[in-house]
Amino acid sequence: MHDQSTESAKLTLKGTTYDLPVYSGTIGPDVIDIGKLYAEAGVFTFDPGYTSTGSCESSITYIDGEKGELLYRGYPIEQLAEKSHFLEVCYLLLYGELPTAAQMEDFETRVTNHTMLHEQLAYFFRGFRRDAHPMAVVCGAMGAMSAFYHDSTDINDPWQREVATIRMIAKMPTLVSWAYKYSIGQPFVYPNNSLDYASNFLNMCFSVPAAEYHVDPILSRAMDRIFTLHADHEQNASTSTVRLASSSGANPFACVAAGVACLWGPAHGGANEACLRMLREIGSVDRIPEYIKKAKDKDDPFRLMGFGHRVYKNFDPRAKVMKQSADEVLGLLGIENNPTLQVAKELERIALEDEYFVEKKLYPNVDFYSGIILDAMGFPTSMFTPIFALARTVGWISQWKEMLEDPKARIGRPRQLYTGAAFRDYTDVENR
Ligand code: SDX
Repeated sequence: MHDQSTESAKLTLKGTTYDLPVYSGTIGPDVIDIGKLYAEAGVFTFDPGYTSTGSCESSITYIDGEKGELLYRGYPIEQLAEKSHFLEVCYLLLYGELPTAAQMEDFETRVTNHTMLHEQLAYFFRGFRRDAHPMAVVCGAMGAMSAFYHDSTDINDPWQREVATIRMIAKMPTLVSWAYKYSIGQPFVYPNNSLDYASNFLNMCFSVPAAEYHVDPILSRAMDRIFTLHADHEQNASTSTVRLASSSGANPFACVAAGVACLWGPAHGGANEACLRMLREIGSVDRIPEYIKKAKDKDDPFRLMGFGHRVYKNFDPRAKVMKQSADEVLGLLGIENNPTLQVAKELERIALEDEYFVEKKLYPNVDFYSGIILDAMGFPTSMFTPIFALARTVGWISQWKEMLEDPKARIGRPRQLYTGAAFRDYTDVENR
C-alpha cells in the first residue's frame, strides 16, 4: 500500500493552519489525507458526486481520463482486448499478474467446475413474471445465491472468499442466460463444460433442445472481447456500491446484488440499453441534428446516451476498441450497412464537431457501440445491461477481495452538510 506521506498540504481555517498528509501513488494524482480533519478542525469536506474524492487505495485498475488510457494491473486495455481472453483477464484482475499456462489451466478448471446453479434456484426464477426486466431477475437471483451457498459467505475465511469468487464468475453466465431464457419462454440450457467461457454463455442463450446449435467463433470472440472491455473500471458507481455494502461485512452475493442494482441505472450500465433505443428512435442520419439540438437544450432532460463520462475527458479507449469490433463483427456477419451502425457513426462524427460537445469534452463511452454488436448477435436490448453485469462481476469481486485483504478497511460512513430544521420541541396537533 502507499508509502508514508512525502509532503503535506496546508489548510488554514478561522486562523488555524492544519497540515494534511499528501500521498503519491505509482501513477496518477496525489491524494490529500483528510481522515483526521474533523477531529482536528471540526469540519467535513463536501463533495456530493465524489468528483475530487478518492474513496480507497487500489492497485487493480487505473484510468487516465485526459490521455484516454485504461490499465488493468498496468496492462493497457487495447493490448488485453487484442492478445488476451476474458478468463485470463479475470485471473489478472483477481491475483495481480498474468497467469502461467499451468495457473491458467487450474483457474479455468475451477471456474468450469462451478458453472451449474443449484437446481432449486430454477424454481426461484419461476417466481418472476415472464415479462420482468432481466436485470430485475439477475439482481434478485444474485441476492438469492446467498441463500444457497452458505458455505462461502463467511468473509473472514480466505478459503470461503475464494470459493465465492470462483462461484460468482462461473455462475453469472448461467444466471444471466437463464434470465434471458425465462423472459422468452424457452427452457433453461445447462452449461456445457466442453465450451470456453464466452461460447458456453452464447450456447446457454441461443441453443434450444430441439435443434443442433454451433457457436459461431466470430460471435464468441466478439463476446469474449466485450466481457474484457467491461471487466473493471476503478471506483465507478456500482463498484463503490459493492465496496460500501461489503464494508458492513455483508456476504459477497448480497454485495454483488447491490452492484447489479446500481449498474442498472441509465446514467451507468443501463446506458447501453438506452443508447440503442435512442439510436433506433433517431432512425436515420437526417434526424441527427434534431437530437443534437435536444441534447444541448438546457430545458430538455434528453442526453445523448453513450456519450460523456465522469473521468474520460478524451475518448474512452473501450469505445474505440468496441467501434472496431462493431465494424469487424457486422462486416463478418454481412450486415455492415446496418442502419443503426450508420446512425451511430454519423452521430459520433457530428457530435465531435459540435462546440457544445467539444467544450464539455463529451466523447462516446463504452456504452455507445456495445449495443450495436449485442443487437447484431441477436440479444434484445433488455439483455445489454445483464451482459455488462456478467462482465463486471470480476471487477466487483476483485475490488471486494482487495478491500477485505486491506487491514485498514473499515465500515464506510460518510457525513453531510445539514440544512434542515434546527432543534425544536414537538407541537401537539391542536396547536399546529
Ligand atoms: C458508464 O464511472 C464509470 O467508470 C462508469 C463506466 C464503467 O465502466 O463503470 O464507464 C460505465 O456508466 C459509462 C457512462 C454511461 N452513461 C451514459 O452514457 C449516460 C449519458 N451520460 C451522462 O449522463 C453523463 O455524461 C455521465 C453520467 C456519464 C457523467 O456525468 P457527470 O460526470 O456527472 O457529468 P455531468 O452530468 O455533470 O455533465 C457535465 C456537463 C453537463 O452540462 P452543464 O450542466 O455543465 O451545462 O455535460 C453535459 C451535462 O448536461 N452532459 C451531456 C451529456 N453528458 C454530460 N449533455 C448531453 N449528453 C450527454 N450524454
